Amino acid sequence: MQSDVKDPGLARKGRERIDWAAAEMRVLSQIRERFEKERPLDGIRIAACLHVTTETANLMEALRAGGADVALCASNPLSTQDDVAAALDESGIDVYAIKGEDNDTYYRHINAVLDRRPQITMDDGADLVSLLHRERAEQIADVIGGTEETTTGVIRLRAMAAAGALRYPIVSVNDADTKHLFDNRFGTGQSTMDAIMRSTNLLIAGRTVVVAGYGMCGRGVASRARGLGARVVVTEVDPLPALEAAMEGYTVMPLREAARIGDVFVTVTGDTAVIRREHIELMKDGAVLANSGHFDVEIDKPALEDLAEGKRRIRDFVDEYRLADGRRINLLGEGRLVNLAAAEGHPAAVMDMSFANQALSVEWVVDRRGTLEPGVHAVPAIIDAEVARLKLHAMGVEIDRLTPEQEEYLRSWEQGT
Ligand SMILES: NC(=O)c1ccc[n+]([C@@H]2O[C@H](COP(=O)([O-])OP(=O)(O)OC[C@H]3O[C@@H](n4cnc5c(N)ncnc54)[C@H](O)[C@@H]3O)[C@@H](O)[C@H]2O)c1
Repeated sequence: MQSDVKDPGLARKGRERIDWAAAEMRVLSQIRERFEKERPLDGIRIAACLHVTTETANLMEALRAGGADVALCASNPLSTQDDVAAALDESGIDVYAIKGEDNDTYYRHINAVLDRRPQITMDDGADLVSLLHRERAEQIADVIGGTEETTTGVIRLRAMAAAGALRYPIVSVNDADTKHLFDNRFGTGQSTMDAIMRSTNLLIAGRTVVVAGYGMCGRGVASRARGLGARVVVTEVDPLPALEAAMEGYTVMPLREAARIGDVFVTVTGDTAVIRREHIELMKDGAVLANSGHFDVEIDKPALEDLAEGKRRIRDFVDEYRLADGRRINLLGEGRLVNLAAAEGHPAAVMDMSFANQALSVEWVVDRRGTLEPGVHAVPAIIDAEVARLKLHAMGVEIDRLTPEQEEYLRSWEQGT
């Protein structure tokens, strides 16, 4: 099957937006230039299951510049930008992704990239790797290795490795410092608030925003909501991030209490059934529910459906559920990651770092084919440091160097008071 996109006629608009993002992706563009000269991925077949956005398009083109044969499918049924899919298809990269595709189409598209018998898998959430191991295990002999983009995917891969089920090496791109300290925090923070504002046009100032989960994403969402003038409440299950949130000045309380006072709720836990029936029953009329965690399981949608007497799509990406007593609860983006469903995902400047890690990690895996053990591998520190150095350079930021005296001091243990 050659590409399955919504409308090839959208290619021009997609190309313009891909070019716009490219201007913000200066680290990736330097890698692409080197790849063009050195062709480190010559003839390597890559199957990528990522959000089909302008930034992903730039990554796909960088990999192709390195000589790879790339096929792309969506890592979420609602995150595809149809114009980008059309533009990539026009440029000769096979894409299988349509915004709003149903579950069957979603898995048909993953199977389509697997039909290419990939040697490298590039995943965001581990659906591709999971399907490959569960249903197409005979193909695993072809695979050199893979990469994983997000927290939830890494958790799934570690569970596979612990069960002895993961059969090839996968680099956990999410765990690179230049990925999760920036993408998860600044990217998710800004794009989640952007999606809530675009889809609802609500004034955030003066409202109570409840952030469930104070991990890397939660830190970003909480700080951006506070910057917009919200009173921010954090809910957690782990004492350490809860303590950090409290000392950061946020109100920390159980979700059962927060449910009564929140105007906007954002889940970013990577967990399941975080906002449940007992919470929805306590919420105010007009409450807005959004999820930015990887899967659409953080808000219990069946419970919401069950509680509601009626439902209507009141704005794009806003479903209004009317409860028996007349209260309205608004669910954004069908509970799927709201920043990609109802906005454009992370800004290109931050995806630049995540995808630089992706490109360099693929090169690293290919370079070491046959030598890496099956399992989850960290991004080598040298790659992380190089991405930080290139990003600072691209931003025109210079830093100090250690003097010889300082180097000596930091190496020594004799000097004290
Ligand atoms: N929307 C996006 O573009 C985007 C970007 C990056 C990551 N993600 C996804 O967001 C999710 C969170 O990622 P992260 O990097 O912040 O993870 P993380 O592990 O750093 O943080 C998750 C936090 O949620 C807390 N938590 C777990 N269950 C909870 C519950 N029931 N109630 C309250 N808190 C709970 C954990 O204690 C932890 O502190 C993952 O699913 C990840 O894949 C989404």
